[in-house]
Amino acid sequence: MRDFKIVTPIVALTYDELPAEHRMLVDTARKAFTRSYAPYSHFNVGAAILLDNGEIVSGANQENVAYPSGTCAERTACYYAGATYPDAKFCAIAVAARGTDGNEVPTPIAPCGACRQALLEYEKLAGKDVVVLLVGAKEIYQFPSIKSLLPLCFNEF
Ligand code: THU
Repeated sequence: MRDFKIVTPIVALTYDELPAEHRMLVDTARKAFTRSYAPYSHFNVGAAILLDNGEIVSGANQENVAYPSGTCAERTACYYAGATYPDAKFCAIAVAARGTDGNEVPTPIAPCGACRQALLEYEKLAGKDVVVLLVGAKEIYQFPSIKSLLPLCFNEF
């Protein structure tokens, strides 16, 4: 028998502590949640992805009366990026959210399991770590990679 631990390194930062290109990514994710279509949950999420061609691609959650047909912000953004710039590599992603009280969430929300798996595909395609910024009004959590958010991930068969 053997015990082992998987440790997730997280850096908690303020907006002002971020480098300029990450501040711009956070700004874009915050703008993106205002374009969320969430008439059922009233929970607005925005995601912004920085690509190695310098473009920033964003997306917001899009809900549907048939609930499972809706899509999270992260998958809206990553599929849009993949469909628009198929040769570009992902460098970083920021995720921001506005709660049902109409205010930005004070502490960051984290992507659902399906989005983590979807994003992992693009990290694999990039061939390098994709920095993740989970944005709250008070604090931002920075993760070094998508795979750090999905320990023991399924990434080959
Ligand atoms: N949602 C996202 O878009 N991203 C997340 O990381 C978590 C949840 C969406 C799905 C649904 O439209 C709403 O937030 C409430 O779950």
